[in-house]
Amino acid sequence: MNLQKLVQLKSEGKSIPGNDLETLISAYVNGQVHDGEMTQFLKAVHANGMADEEIISFTEIMLNSGERIQFPRLETYIADKHSTGGVGDKVSIVLGPLMASAGLAIPMLTGRSLGHTGGTIDKLETIPGFQSNLSIDQFKTNVETMGICIMSQTESICPADRKMYALRDVTGTIDSIPLICGSIMSKKIAEGIQGLVLDIKTGNGAFMKTMDQAKPLGETLQKVGEAFAIKTDVVYSSMNQPLGRTAGMWCEIQESIDALQGKGSQDLMNVVFELGSKLLVQAGVTRWETAAIAIQENLIQNGKAYQKFEEIAAAQGGNLSEGGSLNSPLFEKTIKAESSGYIETMDTLNIGWAAVELGCGRRQKNDILDPTAGIEFMAKTGDEVKAGTPIFRCFNSNENKLDSAVNYLIDSVIIGPKKVSHTLFLLS
Ligand code: URA
Repeated sequence: MNLQKLVQLKSEGKSIPGNDLETLISAYVNGQVHDGEMTQFLKAVHANGMADEEIISFTEIMLNSGERIQFPRLETYIADKHSTGGVGDKVSIVLGPLMASAGLAIPMLTGRSLGHTGGTIDKLETIPGFQSNLSIDQFKTNVETMGICIMSQTESICPADRKMYALRDVTGTIDSIPLICGSIMSKKIAEGIQGLVLDIKTGNGAFMKTMDQAKPLGETLQKVGEAFAIKTDVVYSSMNQPLGRTAGMWCEIQESIDALQGKGSQDLMNVVFELGSKLLVQAGVTRWETAAIAIQENLIQNGKAYQKFEEIAAAQGGNLSEGGSLNSPLFEKTIKAESSGYIETMDTLNIGWAAVELGCGRRQKNDILDPTAGIEFMAKTGDEVKAGTPIFRCFNSNENKLDSAVNYLIDSVIIGPKKVSHTLFLLS
């Protein structure tokens, strides 16, 4: 393999044969190709993209670089969901147990906070004692016996992605559709799933700001899923305001518990039910999305969905009953409307960074999170407010950080004379 020739081909927008791509990536994983050389290649892909067949080969190479989980004993439908990341996005924490209580098997390997967006694992780890790094054997056993396990990605799954993602992160090559697709889909396929639903977040608080950016990503992810015989549905949901009532750490676990007990906010439940309906139809539980919504509502009403969440927490060492008292914040501040009118716009990116500032995310890899931190949204887009009406309540256990988060939040809403409505699903 001549690396310069591969970079040259890619720079000219040409496709690289699968076996050359494999040689290159395995040489990189084994240390024979250096970061500088791989960066040239990543930049060429970033600039010129990849053809569909190349993306599929790339995904397969990442997948084959590590362990692939299988569930030969399971007869139930095995599925997962993936979100491209948002603010207040606790959908996995509600949807996972809900789908498991409907009889699906959910092997969910999930991530930590990324940029201004929260991470499912960081939130779950606020449950006292919760273990998120089980062995793959334990992960499989939990899925086989309880229908679900939610844990963090392990070293043995897609190690090539791990190494390349770290390099992309420092070389400005994260936002490339082929690289994102290979990275996300290899890790999902490695879970041994038959079905997948993708929540492509779109809007001012998402990585994809517009539908013109989101659509090609969704379509390519779907093509890759289908190339690996995984039933793949895509939902485009809005991140033009945070999802639900809170964004943060333990507060999002508490909100997820409320949702599983039938007290979820309408926007959160709409996203949960939309994604859940896709999975229930894929699984053949029902043919109709309306029936699928009724099934989900019933599993919440009869307590089975919440019971499954309690089982997950207990199986992974978590003590839910002490979560509230151990994660009680020391400080809080309320941010009030400065004028009267309607909330027209929420700057969700800014709100996400305010949450990071409070201690819900990392600016540096080794930053320590604050499990007590978060933001409550007391008013959202379209709500009428008077000057002095509370809009945000933010809380944590580090007063200096609280003050700087307040500065982000002060400028995060626009209040105007028009009552605007928020569109939750952009296109489905
Ligand atoms: N998340 C991933 O796992 N990979 C990407 O490339 C982007 C987001």
